[in-house]
Amino acid sequence: MVAMKYWIEPLADERDLEGVLEVEAASFTNPWTRDMYAWELQNRSVCHIYVVRTEECRVAGFCAFWLVFDEIHINNVAIRPGYRAQGIGTGLLHHVLAAARQLGARRATLEVRASNEGARRLYERLGFYVAGTRRNYYTHPVEDALILWRDEDGQPRAGAATSHS
Ligand SMILES: CC(C)(COP(=O)(O)OP(=O)(O)OC[C@H]1O[C@@H](n2cnc3c(N)ncnc32)[C@H](O)[C@@H]1OP(=O)(O)O)[C@@H](O)C(=O)NCCC(=O)NCCS
Repeated sequence: MVAMKYWIEPLADERDLEGVLEVEAASFTNPWTRDMYAWELQNRSVCHIYVVRTEECRVAGFCAFWLVFDEIHINNVAIRPGYRAQGIGTGLLHHVLAAARQLGARRATLEVRASNEGARRLYERLGFYVAGTRRNYYTHPVEDALILWRDEDGQPRAGAATSHS
């Protein structure tokens, strides 16, 4: 199979935001709304959004994170359904982690649904580990969140992201 050609850029304009909202709606049971993103985008020094582009798709995926001191908090990451399982999510997260390092980040954290095995495997491969649980954090359906962290060295450790169930 020929690898899909894609590239990653910071969110540029309203059309990109439209694309992000489409990917949100196709990926999550309680997607972030336009108003939530508008609020986020008022503070571009904290809120960073990167989009994945292909020749035929302006926004094939995206990742939104906050930069807080020397940490990034990854709030949302998603790839359009037709573009999944081709390495794009992995490429996007590598890109985001490298960009965050350039901005001075040393650690990364995110929350993931306990049942989201695919995402957990992806994070574990990138060196994220389980640091805690937020009980009943998610709705639609109600479910625990696992709190993952990744340190600067990216070395997986005892509580790797798939070791809790
Ligand atoms: C989680 C998500 C972002 C991953 O994106 P992705 O582009 O599918 O990720 P990748 O392709 O890099 O890796 C996913 C799988 O595809 C496999 N894969 C990677 N490259 C591949 C290729 N060239 N051919 C076939 N499979 C491949 C990986 O091995 C991985 O397999 P796994 O199921 O064993 O982990 C995506 O599934 C998604 O948007 N899910 C819905 C939203 C979501 O759950 N977001 C995370 C919230 S915390």
